[in-house]
Amino acid sequence: MIRVAVAGAAGRVGETVCATVEEADDLELTGRADPKLGTSVEDVLEGADVLVDFTQPDTALDNARAALAAGVHVVIGTSGFDLEGLRAAARDAQANAFVAPNFAIGAVLMMRFAAEASRHMQRAEIVELHHAAKLDAPSGTAARTAEMMEGDVPIHSVRLPGIVADQEVILGDVGQTLTIRHATTDRTSFMPGVLLAIRRVADVPESPVVGLEHLLFGE
Ligand SMILES: NC(=O)c1ccc[n+]([C@@H]2O[C@H](COP(=O)([O-])OP(=O)(O)OC[C@H]3O[C@@H](n4cnc5c(N)ncnc54)[C@H](O)[C@@H]3O)[C@@H](O)[C@H]2O)c1
Repeated sequence: MIRVAVAGAAGRVGETVCATVEEADDLELTGRADPKLGTSVEDVLEGADVLVDFTQPDTALDNARAALAAGVHVVIGTSGFDLEGLRAAARDAQANAFVAPNFAIGAVLMMRFAAEASRHMQRAEIVELHHAAKLDAPSGTAARTAEMMEGDVPIHSVRLPGIVADQEVILGDVGQTLTIRHATTDRTSFMPGVLLAIRRVADVPESPVVGLEHLLFGE
C-alpha cells in the first residue's frame, strides 16, 4: 500500500485526485490538506509516503519543501511555480520530486509531435485556452511545449468559462499550415498520469523529474 496525502484537496483537480486514490486498490488516502478544509500540508505529512500537490503557483514550492524535508516524495501538478527553487530543495533530499506540466497522455503526445514538427517547418505559434479561474498565464503546458520546440514560439493565452484546458500548436510553411490540437473535456483525463507518477516517484533515477514522458517512454 502506498499512503497518499493530497494538497489542494478541495480544489477542482485535488478533489478528483482524492476520489481516484480512494478507488485504487494499492493506494490509501491518508490526508486532505486545504485551507478550505482547515488542514495544512504539515498536518497530513506524517504517515504519508507521497504528497500530491495541485494547489497554487505561490504555495506549491513551500509544500514541496515541507514534504521533502519530512522524507515524503512529492508529485506536483501545480503550474507556474518556481522550478529552480524545487531543484535546489531536491538536491540534498532523501525523498524524490516529480513534476508534470500536463498529466494527460494526449497533451504529452501533442508536445512530442509539436517538437518533431518544429524541426521541419519554418515557424510556429501556440494558442492555449483555459477556464477563467486559472491563475497563471501562459500555461505550464504551453511554456514547456515552446521550450521543446525549435525557434522562438510565441504563446497566446485565452481565458474563458466553458473551457477546461485546450491547446493548439499551429505551424506554418510555404503554402501550408499544420495544426496539432489537444482538448481536455474532463479533469479525469489527468488521473492515469497522476496514478503512474504516485506509483513510480519513489524509484525515479534523478530528482526532480520533469515531464510525464520520462515515465511513459523511458526518456
Ligand atoms: N499538471 C496538470 O496536468 C494540471 C492539470 C490541471 C491543473 N493543473 C494545475 O493545478 C493547479 C490546481 O488547479 P485547480 O483547477 O484544481 O485549482 P483550484 O483553485 O480549484 O484548487 C486549488 C486548491 O488549492 C488550495 N490551496 C491553496 N493554498 C494551499 C496550501 N498552501 N496547501 C494546500 N492547499 C492549498 C485552494 O484552497 C484550492 O482549493 C493549478 O496550478 C493548475 O494550473 C495542472
